[in-house]
Amino acid sequence: MQQSRESWASKIGVVLAVAGSAVGLGNFLVFPGRVAANGGGAFMIPYFIALILIGIPLAWMEWTMGRFGGMLGHGSAPGVLSAMVKRPYARYLGSIGVFGPLLILFFYVYIESWLLGFIWYALTGELAVASSSAETMGAFFRDYIGLKTTFSGIPAALFFFFIAFLLNFGIIYLGIRRGIETISKVLMPLLLVLGVIMLIRVLTLKGISSGLGFLWNPDFSRLLDINVWFAATSQVFFTLSIGIGTILTYASYVKKQQDIVLSSLTANAANEFFEVIIGGTIVIPTAVIFLGAAGAQDVARQGAMSLGFITMPMIFRQFTFMEANIGSIFQVLWFVLLFIAGLTSSISIIQPGISFLEDELELSKRKSVIVLAPVTLFYCLMVIFGMNAGAADEVDLWGFQFSLLFFGMIEALLFARIFGRDRGLAEMNRGADIRLPGFLTPVICYVTPAFLVVLLILWLTKGGGMDAILLNNLKEAQVSFIGLKMSNRTFIVLVRGCLLLFLAAINFAVYLAWKYKRSQDGVIQ
Ligand code: ALA
Repeated sequence: MQQSRESWASKIGVVLAVAGSAVGLGNFLVFPGRVAANGGGAFMIPYFIALILIGIPLAWMEWTMGRFGGMLGHGSAPGVLSAMVKRPYARYLGSIGVFGPLLILFFYVYIESWLLGFIWYALTGELAVASSSAETMGAFFRDYIGLKTTFSGIPAALFFFFIAFLLNFGIIYLGIRRGIETISKVLMPLLLVLGVIMLIRVLTLKGISSGLGFLWNPDFSRLLDINVWFAATSQVFFTLSIGIGTILTYASYVKKQQDIVLSSLTANAANEFFEVIIGGTIVIPTAVIFLGAAGAQDVARQGAMSLGFITMPMIFRQFTFMEANIGSIFQVLWFVLLFIAGLTSSISIIQPGISFLEDELELSKRKSVIVLAPVTLFYCLMVIFGMNAGAADEVDLWGFQFSLLFFGMIEALLFARIFGRDRGLAEMNRGADIRLPGFLTPVICYVTPAFLVVLLILWLTKGGGMDAILLNNLKEAQVSFIGLKMSNRTFIVLVRGCLLLFLAAINFAVYLAWKYKRSQDGVIQ
């Protein structure tokens, strides 16, 4: 164990950092599209049920387990679970809490870099020209992510990717206080200001009530569709950053007597404000005003990336204020808003890996960054060059879908089994600014774990999870990866092999870490 671990400088710092982790691309790109595609206002029924029965309780559990692990010098899932369970299996299960977030990062940081590129093109005015029609904007976006657009002689997407990558690891290198906390304290208020400016402009558009009506009018018949429930639950997971291992890690730097109950609730409330109020108002209602209901429906169906990178710049281009065109300004604001939201989330999904290297392998911050950055770079490049061949979809399946659900379920089961009702409640309430009422413990100890077990089984059987894992619906095709031609099935098997290798390497590191600890202090924790 390290002699002295870092800690957050202030209570507001950790709340803003966790809120920063939660408020991300999911809030502004994924949420509005999912509401529109899954029954409008009716979607909010499963969404709020999942928020109350899974989201908020699991966040409390993660804060509690994280602070508990941190007191014993562990800041990542292998160490935290091992400190709780004291059996070897726990630390190996915990490896998913390091693997999962990094899988998400491999794609997330690339999307973040597109935002950086689009901020640049919005500032230079190139985006204003490209966004004059759906065809030109679509071609602009496809050329950009297809590495055809160049910047200083290299593909622009790669150029901006390296900037985004270095920025992320630079913040991580500065540490919990100087890096993550400082950046969250600056960027989260800025995000609020940007969000509110956009909100005000959108709410003062002519026809906004029909736009809001389109998004929120409930179609209750959709509630019988199991996929609507999956969509709502996975949205809650992703948006709150639960089941990823990040809250576990952030909470490990909270002091022993510092509140976690109110802090967790505050961070969740902030996330819901950004998601439901700001995200829910800006995107789809605006699309309805400018493209009509049918156009907005099309947009929602085309997915989050098309919405954020093709439709929204085209719509913002038409924004005026007192007769003057302010389109370019809103294009810049939009991509800056998304970039800030993305950056404060991506640093949080790097930190579990860094904490693992620091706490369990006892590497310095510098060495941890030197070890993790090249590995991450390799996998990011695999996603970048293999995107058209299906690499991003694999990362989505294993990182964004499977790991979240699986690791969330493991956390909830272990919390219920190891801490149980009384100890769990006592552990949560230590130093709490508001005490968690006792009647909530049955929800936390029984309902949340049961809900998650059922959900994972349903996702595998009815939600298409097993089919995706077994590649049952894959349409055979030839793909090209860095000039090599192969079948898409072969490519996916290769990608899976690389991901499995990474998981094996983490598990080997876990094995070495505990072997090393045993020889040092004579006990396996
Ligand atoms: N919670 C983050 C998001 O919504 C990961 O993007």
